[in-house]
This record gives sequence, C-alpha cells and structure tokens, in this order.
Amino acid sequence: MAATRACLVALVVALTFVFLEGLAAAATANPEGRAQRRREVRSLLRRLNKPPLATIQSVDGDIIDCVHISKQPAFDHPLLKNHTIQMQPAYNPGGMYDKSNIAPHRIAQTWHQNGKCPENTIPIRRTKYEDLLRASSTRRYGKKRPESIANLNSVNEPVTPNISTGHQHAIAYAQVDNYHGTKATFNLWKPTIGRDNDFSLTQLWITGGSYRGNDLNTIEAGWQVYPDLYKDRNTRLFVYWTRDAYHQTTGCYNLQCPGFIQTNNQIALGGSISPTSTYGGAQYDIDILVWKDKVGGNWWLQVGGYYVGYWPSFIFSYLQNSASSVQWGGEVYSPDVGQTSTHMGSGHFPNEGFRQASYIRNIQVVDTSNSLIPPSDVGLIARHNNSYNVQSGIYGSDWGIYIYYGGPGKNINSP
Ligand SMILES: *[C@@H]1O[C@H](CO)[C@@H](O)[C@H](O)[C@H]1NC(C)=O
Ligand SMILES: *[C@@H]1O[C@H](CO)[C@@H](O)[C@H](O)[C@H]1NC(C)=O
Ligand SMILES: *[C@@H]1O[C@H](CO)[C@@H](O)[C@H](O)[C@H]1NC(C)=O
Repeated sequence: MAATRACLVALVVALTFVFLEGLAAAATANPEGRAQRRREVRSLLRRLNKPPLATIQSVDGDIIDCVHISKQPAFDHPLLKNHTIQMQPAYNPGGMYDKSNIAPHRIAQTWHQNGKCPENTIPIRRTKYEDLLRASSTRRYGKKRPESIANLNSVNEPVTPNISTGHQHAIAYAQVDNYHGTKATFNLWKPTIGRDNDFSLTQLWITGGSYRGNDLNTIEAGWQVYPDLYKDRNTRLFVYWTRDAYHQTTGCYNLQCPGFIQTNNQIALGGSISPTSTYGGAQYDIDILVWKDKVGGNWWLQVGGYYVGYWPSFIFSYLQNSASSVQWGGEVYSPDVGQTSTHMGSGHFPNEGFRQASYIRNIQVVDTSNSLIPPSDVGLIARHNNSYNVQSGIYGSDWGIYIYYGGPGKNINSP
C-alpha cells in the first residue's frame, strides 16, 4: 500500500516534469524554437483536452467538453487506471452549525443556458491553442506563483509593500492542528481588474507543511477574475492544489494536471458563475465545503450543494493526515502595489458593510470528529490596508463568524 502511494506520488511528479520539460523551450525566439513551441503547445492541448462525448458552446465564449468520467485528465497514466472512483463521500460533516434546514443555493454557470452534460461524463472547460500562446509563461501555465499565500509566520513584521512580489491578501485565518476541513459562504462579485495579468480572487485555503520548508500543501477553492488565464473578466469558479509550496512540480488550477478527480456532471471547474452581486443591490453567494472523508481519506469538495469531486489524499504529504491552518479571504495580484486599480471583493472597504463590502459568512471548520464548529482564535491579515482591508465579526446565529474584506486597490493616501 505504502509502496503504491510512493509510486503514485512519483508518477504525478514525473508526469508534471514531462509537461514542464516539454514547454521549457517555449520562450525561444528563433523560427526553429517557434515551431518547437507550437508542437509542444499542440501536444499539451492533446493531453488537456480529451475526446468529448458531447460539446456545449457557452455564450461566454467557453467550449465545454463532456468527457467520459473515466477519461478525465487524472487517469492519464496507466498507474492511475486501477483507481476506483468514489462517486459519493462516505460521511458528510455535521454539527450544530450545519444549517441543514436551509437548502443550499444551487449555483448557476453560464454554460448551463446551452445544455447539459450526460450521465457518466464531466464538463471540462476546453483549453484553446491561443490560451497557451497568450500565457506569459507557458512553462507555468495553469500554475500559481510561489507568493500565492499570506505568510502567517511574519504576521508581526512591519508592513513593507514589496513591488517585486505584488501579492496582496486580506484574510482571516485559524491555526490549530488537526483540522479536517472548512465550510463558508462566499459573497459573489465581479471585481474590476486593472491589467490583463492582474487577478482578483476570493477563496479558502486549507494548508499543512510550511512555506519556508518548500513543503507547503494546500487545497484551495473559490472564485476568481483572471483575464490572462480565462481571456475575459468574468467571475469563475476555481480549485487549486500544491504539495511543494507552489514550486515547479506539483499542483495546478482546476483539471490542468493529474490530481483532482471530478465526479459531477453539472459543475465545470474554471466555468463562469452568474449572477454576481451589485453595489447597494441584490447579493449572491455560494457555499463551499471541503472536508476529509473518514473512509478513504479523500478531501471532498462540495459547491452550492453539489458534490464536485475530490483530491485523493495520496497526492499530498502533510494533508494525507490533516490540516494545520485554514484561511478565508481575498487576494489580488498586481505588480503595481499601492497604485493598482484592481479591486478586491466588491472594490469597497469592509467598514461599508452589507451590500457594499464583500463578505464571507458562516465560517466553520471541520474537527476530528467530523463536526462543523466555529474556529477559535481567528486572526486577520491585511498588510496593505490602505488598498485592501479585512474586519471580522460575530452576528447573531445567522451569520456566525464572518468577515468583510476587500477594497479599491489604489492607495487613496498617495498622490
Ligand atoms: C492494476 O491492476 C492490475 C490487475 O490487477 C495489476 O496487474 C497492476 O499491477 C495494477 N497496477 C497498479 C499501478 O497498481
Ligand atoms: C521583495 O521580494 C524579493 C523577492 O522575493 C526579495 O528578494 C526582497 O528582499 C523583498 N524586499 C522587501 C523590501 O521585502
Ligand atoms: C492598518 O494597519 C495599521 C498597522 O497595522 C493599523 O495601525 C491601522 O489601524 C490599520 N487601519 C485600518 C483602517 O484598519
């Protein structure tokens, strides 16, 4: 059993290496290099885009391929062929904060307007040739940068906006051993993005290991606006994982590398979600729950009441057992720290409150007995609070523990 696991981990690493090596020549400028790059892009596309049983053209420009569940990217390699797909989790977390009397909001994705994927298929957002050519670095296509997590170890360090880094967070976090998941309800917005390679996201992070040790494990889920990745400014559902602190060899967005196993035929990872909230008007939100199933140990993802799929625990090191930190909040990437017009959340500061500021409410964690409980000792981080800020609160029994977070970006105290 242990040998098989080690083998599988090695496989995932090896596969990713092949993929990265294949793209390493991408930056070459000479004609031979360009031809080589085109060949590599085509070969990567063949790997990412599986032959569909049906195809749905979405009004937002996406092409959704309905791929047989056993042909999804996770099963590319013979070593994973023996994996028996778990179609349902064995145990759902329960507990006093689980409002099972309230029906979850079913989320609507734009492509649903034009069709459905048949049973036993999963919807996969097709990666297009131009997506790979557009990527500023095809080598890291579909991957986050290493700074993509707030550094909890330096909470008390002085605030020094680091122009070369450009990642800005406004988050809440809880650090305790032995978390088995988290659930929260995320307000949906469509923040303004200043430049095509900026992004703005709202998500949860479940982590183990350490950033400094290069062995940080994360499971992430939320929504993002990221023109460089999706070619538009729509709000899109995403997941992410890494086992090596976002370095070269593991992890990716959505289904862009072997890792996440999808079981659901209605949710497309990377697909756009609508409607989003309006300032002073209608508010929309989605529930996201990630928890470690007591049987099998897989980390399941539930979005808007749908079981979407799971991360097998063997793709991780620390997260094979449990998480040591959970975070919730927003992140903006922009090289122009303090000067960017990229918004986080609604683009308004937390003190504006409901309908104006973006919220994450009913923040809960899953404990070792599989119960949803409010986290104790929630900390807050907003290093650039002139641009983006975060506030927490406890509001009666309806909202439980919640945060307001976000802001307009551009430092209003600068000329
Ligand atoms: C898959 O199952 C077959 C048949 O039982 C076996 O021969 C093969 O070694 C297995 N492969 C892996 C990677 O476990
Ligand atoms: C900014 O980030 C770079 C790269 O990570 C690092 O070398 C530099 O020391 C940082 N500067 C400050 C002021 O933190
Ligand atoms: C911003 O952060 C500074 C330094 O931690 C703090 O003194 C200040 O009160 C914060 N401002 C707001 C509006 O939260």
